[in-house]
Amino acid sequence: MQPLQLPLFSSSDTRFDYPFPPTRYQGSKQKWVGWIWENTQHLEFTTVLDVFGGTGAVSHLFKRVGKQVTYSDVLAFNHEIGRALIENHDQTLATPMIEVLLDTDDPLAYPTFIEQTFPNIYYTDAENQWLDRMVYRIDHLLANPYQQAIARFALFQACIIKRPYNLFHRANLYMRTAPVERTFGNKTTWDTPFPSHFKTFAQQANLAVFDNRQPNTAIQCDALETPTGFDLVYLDPPYINHHGVGVDYRDFYHFLEGMMNYSQWNQQVDYESKHRRLKPQKSAWNDPHTIIEVFESLIERHHKSILIVSYRDDGIPSHHDLVKVLRRFKKEVYLASQPTQYVLSQKRSHELLLIAP
Ligand SMILES: C[S@@+](CC[C@H](N)C(=O)[O-])C[C@H]1O[C@@H](n2cnc3c(N)ncnc32)[C@H](O)[C@@H]1O
Repeated sequence: MQPLQLPLFSSSDTRFDYPFPPTRYQGSKQKWVGWIWENTQHLEFTTVLDVFGGTGAVSHLFKRVGKQVTYSDVLAFNHEIGRALIENHDQTLATPMIEVLLDTDDPLAYPTFIEQTFPNIYYTDAENQWLDRMVYRIDHLLANPYQQAIARFALFQACIIKRPYNLFHRANLYMRTAPVERTFGNKTTWDTPFPSHFKTFAQQANLAVFDNRQPNTAIQCDALETPTGFDLVYLDPPYINHHGVGVDYRDFYHFLEGMMNYSQWNQQVDYESKHRRLKPQKSAWNDPHTIIEVFESLIERHHKSILIVSYRDDGIPSHHDLVKVLRRFKKEVYLASQPTQYVLSQKRSHELLLIAP
């Protein structure tokens, strides 16, 4: 089948006709997608696997330019985002449905797990109660799985934006509520009510939904178990800084992962931890001693595909070591580089793209 001629290929570049929702997810490549496309558009490919899909920003780019995209991520909440924004090609959440979902003020007896388990940890009691209700209402009031996915996307984004640092790594509700002078943070955003954020994010997700006439899919899969046989495989793994400290996504976003599995959340909580995280699971991607081995296995697994790796020049392993691994399977490895400054980091570093056709 001829790939659909998307607006991108017309004389005026209207690539962003389907705007991707702004996100505060750690490591999102949203601001780099134009640059990623500049460096990949010359390659010949139709099918793409995005192994560490995250927000779906890069999958959405490839969807916009008419590729057949498989989004993958190991976490259930990210997979749900991939279903909402990548796999979904025609379902949106109409305003009346958003209003029905938000009409939580009824006498029904809702589950209370969040209210009971997370008092004074991330949100106020009233907010926790609202979350318990919304999880239930999305599960029970929406019949279409893609509409549910959009609603959950909106719920997750609302949860993230109301958190100091946009993470769940500490019990620090007090940062929002204490009457102290602040030198950083966005109190107005934190204190904006959940329903208002929810509406905004649902509407943003609606705008990102479109059909590129390709059978795009979203899967939940560990990187080393991803299916093979794609024309191009894009890798954007968790980052380990030069001190050896990695980004543990499951730990940073455990609260969202818990909401995806609400009825069994109770059995997965680490009640020893003050912030009620999920019981920890080790991942070779967060360990500076093992990351090179998993990189090798992953590159070997997909070596028949064009490989594109997003990386930073100050990570572990070094990008030189990564190039060495790629060179074991590929004749040529090209490097694109852009200077950048990351939030909460004084040091300037470079965003890299390793291109191994
Ligand atoms: C740097 S982020 C990717 C960001 C993404 N490219 C974007 O633009 O939003 C890394 C992602 O890898 C996922 N991840 C972590 N360990 C994984 C594993 N073993 N297999 C697959 N995905 C994993 C995390 O959930 C996270 O979403």
